Amino acid sequence: MSRVRLAGIKACVFDAYGTLFDVNSAAAQAKDELGEHWQTLAELWRAKQLQYTWLRGLMGRHADFWQVTGDALDYAMASLRISDPHTRERLMGLYLRLAAFPEVKGALLRLREAGMKLAILSNGEPKMLASAARNSGIEELLDAVLSVEAVKVFKPHPHVYRMAEERFGLTAQAMCFVSSNGWDAYAAKACGYRVVWCNRFAQAPERIPSPPDAQIDTLAQLPELVGA
Ligand code: LAC
Repeated sequence: MSRVRLAGIKACVFDAYGTLFDVNSAAAQAKDELGEHWQTLAELWRAKQLQYTWLRGLMGRHADFWQVTGDALDYAMASLRISDPHTRERLMGLYLRLAAFPEVKGALLRLREAGMKLAILSNGEPKMLASAARNSGIEELLDAVLSVEAVKVFKPHPHVYRMAEERFGLTAQAMCFVSSNGWDAYAAKACGYRVVWCNRFAQAPERIPSPPDAQIDTLAQLPELVGA
């Protein structure tokens, strides 16, 4: 973990999928049906989901994240020659109840006790985010759940990252944006946030502008880093 301390942080703003919620937990819970393919499906589903957000952004053809998540699942299932509509329905249902990573609740509690404002800032469609937050028991710890549906364009468009400034009346400099998605961390840094990349899977640095201020392995390391 990086030894930097980020001073003067008043709010922590979290990416949702992959950062707070374990996106692989949907396919993992359907192992009984998917068998050995579950991991391949999970990876392809996630990769396509993100690609479709970027493609739709560039095409100027926004659709909400529920639609994009379903389209990406259809692609992944077709690629693996899985055609059972029941499996699709089950996986989409599981996506509404993704598990939070084990350290999430404890880290949020500690940040909140230290007086930080806490928010989600995500591509997720509002009902999806509300469902995941409720199911993982973190709903009451959050001051705001900000969805790109308010601006109708996906990350990494700068309009998305500005939403937290408006919501909290704070400058990006006074907030810490936290993501496990490297590209998301770099994009938030480009918009002026202090940024922590929760690099859960020890991925290589991205080769795009604006590296984050610090890296951690899990969110358990965040409170100390921001002085909570
Ligand atoms: C999100 C995606 C990027 O929650 O994980 O915004």
